[in-house]
Amino acid sequence: MTLKKSAQLFEQNKGVLAGGVSSDIRKAELPHPLYFESGEGSRIKDIDGNEYIDYILGQGPLLLGHNPRQVIDAVHEQLEKGLIFAGQHQAEVELAQIMTNIIPCADRIRFNSTGSEAVITALRVARAYRDRNLVVKFEGQWHGWYDSVFISTAPDLGKSGSRKNPIPSLPSKGQVANAADNLIIMPWNDLDLLNELFKERGEEIAAILTEPVMCNAGTILPKPGFLEGLRELCDQYQTALIFDEVITGFRLSLGGAQQHFDVTPDIATYAKGIASGFTLSAVAGKADFMDLISSGQVVHAGTYNSNPIVIAAGLATLKFLTAEEDKIYGHFNSLGSRLRKGLTGLLQDAGISSIVSGLGPVVQVSLTDQDVITDYRDWASRDNATYQKLVTDLVFKGVRTTGRGSWYVSYAHTAEDIDITLNSVKEVLINFRQ
Ligand SMILES: Cc1ncc(COP(=O)(O)O)c(C=O)c1O
Repeated sequence: MTLKKSAQLFEQNKGVLAGGVSSDIRKAELPHPLYFESGEGSRIKDIDGNEYIDYILGQGPLLLGHNPRQVIDAVHEQLEKGLIFAGQHQAEVELAQIMTNIIPCADRIRFNSTGSEAVITALRVARAYRDRNLVVKFEGQWHGWYDSVFISTAPDLGKSGSRKNPIPSLPSKGQVANAADNLIIMPWNDLDLLNELFKERGEEIAAILTEPVMCNAGTILPKPGFLEGLRELCDQYQTALIFDEVITGFRLSLGGAQQHFDVTPDIATYAKGIASGFTLSAVAGKADFMDLISSGQVVHAGTYNSNPIVIAAGLATLKFLTAEEDKIYGHFNSLGSRLRKGLTGLLQDAGISSIVSGLGPVVQVSLTDQDVITDYRDWASRDNATYQKLVTDLVFKGVRTTGRGSWYVSYAHTAEDIDITLNSVKEVLINFRQ
């Protein structure tokens, strides 16, 4: 097996495509960014003719796998009728209605194109609600790449102060220097610290913004009572609770993490998973919040918002998820558990200390001596170098996953895919025995 053509093209095209990629995250592909030609179901093919069982799934959107037939058919049909209207159409209303039926916090919906935009919309609404600026953001969480939230996403711990009082860190040159001024960075899963903060500054805090499961850094689950505690604090101080469900939405259950954990935020954001890879995102919220948009006090806009193509994809996806809810989420849980169990056993047999965690179709492998990981700083101390070697070796066995330890399973994956994958992991681990 060779990755020669991909390697050549990547080097050759660095001049025309800045750095050789269109999103910096893709630079992290192991062993180097690859060129792909097609995908079908659980498989993806690269330009060298290699086929992989794909656990990256477009960084999350392909809940139904590559090229789900019902979504492709719906989009084909819409392509014949028009691409963009800059006006209302019935399909967007139908999709909004489905979302209000299945998402607990959703009285009203607005659509955007990307998760980053949805988060910015949610923050604007939250800040308008009580005319407050400050937002609590948790260290290690990723809410998109816009200046005002692209802070302390994967900070260097040598420069980030204490766990109790992290110094905000701006990952990119060119970010507005005071971008972090309206954020308070906190460690995740520590309700005592948040209680102290709110006692001091609660009346100034517009929102707590959180992924309900910390999927972008270690797939860290909330401690029992943590999300409920956030809800109580927000109720007490009239602060908006925002769940960023860009990854968890439609994935952990049809109603997302808020349904799974039975904690209802005021506002939630969606993107990956909603439209099977088409660029659709959404903000869902309680009427009191979303009516700030309805009344025109909060402005929300976008040329491509709810264009009929992405809405057709979203409708086909959500109709299928709704119609086959038990089957699909049963499949996610069963395959996710099979992968978690298999990986745990193989890593133990190889004598490699690890935590294999996750929920439903999200699986996380962290190589670590720790017993438990509860926040970014715990996760940051994992053995990244060994894990990256493992992921690189898996590429040469036809298994594609991320270097940061997360694996996504889709509805198109089969038990056989998982077993083939585990067999590949077993073969690769022979070189890692400790
Ligand atoms: C939790 C979360 N929020 C927001 C975003 C931003 O979404 P997008 O990349 O579509 O702008 C991401 C992207 O990875 C995400 O994982």
